[in-house]
Amino acid sequence: MEMRFLGHSGLRVSALTFGTMTFGGEGQFRQMGSVQVEEARRHVDLCLEAGVNLFDTADVYSHGASEEILGQALGRRRDEVILATKAHGRMGDGPNDVGQSRHHIIRACEDSLRRLDTDYIDLYQVHGFDAMTPLEETLGALDDLVRSGKVRYIGCSNYSAWHLMKALGLSERKGLERFVSQQVYYSLVARELEYELVPLSLDQGLGILVWSPLAAGFLSGKFRRGRPEPEGTRRSQRGDPGTIDEERGYDIIEVLDEIAQEHEATIAQAALNWVLRRPGVTSVIVGARTEEQLRDNLEAASWEMTEEEVWRLDEISDTPPIYPYWHQRRFNAERIPQTIEAGAHR
Ligand SMILES: NC(=O)c1ccc[n+]([C@@H]2O[C@H](COP(=O)([O-])OP(=O)(O)OC[C@H]3O[C@@H](n4cnc5c(N)ncnc54)[C@H](OP(=O)(O)O)[C@@H]3O)[C@@H](O)[C@H]2O)c1
Repeated sequence: MEMRFLGHSGLRVSALTFGTMTFGGEGQFRQMGSVQVEEARRHVDLCLEAGVNLFDTADVYSHGASEEILGQALGRRRDEVILATKAHGRMGDGPNDVGQSRHHIIRACEDSLRRLDTDYIDLYQVHGFDAMTPLEETLGALDDLVRSGKVRYIGCSNYSAWHLMKALGLSERKGLERFVSQQVYYSLVARELEYELVPLSLDQGLGILVWSPLAAGFLSGKFRRGRPEPEGTRRSQRGDPGTIDEERGYDIIEVLDEIAQEHEATIAQAALNWVLRRPGVTSVIVGARTEEQLRDNLEAASWEMTEEEVWRLDEISDTPPIYPYWHQRRFNAERIPQTIEAGAHR
């Protein structure tokens, strides 16, 4: 599998990452899946065989069970992989069991290390923006974790562009560890990050890890216009993020189907293949409830659609430029760099 540098860091990660939100099945995560250790081992085996080296989890996934199961499934292979987890979500009833205070970040990290059964986390990500904690406090705590050897790289997830730019500026000004990547929601039915977050990443040299590339299963091929929805899926329980314009989504799925047939591939693979080629994207986090789904998704990196096919999908999934982007495009067209023009600028 293709290896890509994670932003401007020297770390190389596989073009596909394995996401383990389906491990555990506890609490509100029951609808995502309930993969237990034995099955998780097979998932890890399949990923390693396919060349995946990056594994993503979070403390909140099944209230810690996803981390525990991933740690057990990796076992002695832990040092062969790049392990990414996240902190921010509520992990207890106390007033400080949530967010990005120094208190919570450091304890959350120590708890994740214990559950993952490791003494270092390769990529430690803040899971969202904490409007109540000064960024200096969060970045200072993350910096200490790196210096103590518990964490090797830091990243963020679900930040607005101004949050991220402010954090990068603070890191530079105060000589603190800098985010190397952001983890973002991106798919053919959700391209909002192309307005700001992708150009920011290209400009600042941040890696992009994509979550929910199949829009929580909507783009997996089992949802088709005019056909009854399959039952027992995450989507049928409306466990999907954001809101999707379904009619537009079905138009996109029809094009994906035509492209998939041309390549003897599946609709899910075609949807993942498009995300893999977007400007700025480092790695696409695939999720799977079953081994069959995982095998299908891992094949997405083994073929490439043509330029013309990419263009057809770009066109049909395009979103109207909002202000100030239409103004910038109209008045600066001749000065917009090609990489940005290729998809990051709208
Ligand atoms: N940073 C964040 O805030 C954040 C948020 C969400 C996720 N993530 C990360 O991103 C990873 C992936 O997210 P995601 O699970 O939402 O990704 P996704 O690819 O959008 O959805 C995965 C789900 O789609 C269905 N599916 C996947 N492949 C399929 C196939 N080949 N055929 C049929 N159905 C298929 C399965 O659900 P059903 O069987 O139920 O249909 C599967 O659990 C997570 O594991 C996690 O690591 C991060």
